[in-house]
Amino acid sequence: MQFTLNGKPFDFDGDPDTPLLWVIRDAAALTGTKYGCGIGACGACTVHLEGEATRSCVLPVSAVAGRNITTIEGLSADVTHPVQQAWIKKDVPQCGYCQSGMVMAVAALLRQHPHPTDAQIDQSVTNLCRCATYHRIREAVHVAANS
Ligand code: FES
Ligand code: FES
Repeated sequence: MQFTLNGKPFDFDGDPDTPLLWVIRDAAALTGTKYGCGIGACGACTVHLEGEATRSCVLPVSAVAGRNITTIEGLSADVTHPVQQAWIKKDVPQCGYCQSGMVMAVAALLRQHPHPTDAQIDQSVTNLCRCATYHRIREAVHVAANS
């Protein structure tokens, strides 16, 4: 089966039930997308499916045949996406493990709601951060929205 990964065709001929996360990490060798819980709870594995934030650990690769997937590596060519720039400006990450998923979740939110309220942020970005960087994430979302 084939799908589009960061703008390029990608072929996968393994088990169609393989979670998309492992196709991205193991078959495509794109390791920016992280494994946290494996049950769709933490958001570390968030990618975009047709621009929507999607948890790739619970999505069989067969579900994305013919569709567009974007990972953190494909969000921008040179870290110039407004969310990435806001993350740098506000020095958001601590250990960093959750952050690619956070950035992808926020990028999808801002596409839908360019100037989200705190309530919209809380509703959309349900990713978990064990370092509790939530306050800096919220500030950085507003920085990105106003950039
Ligand atoms: S690893 Fe996918 S939601 Fe936690
Ligand atoms: S920065 Fe460490 S888990 Fe979020």
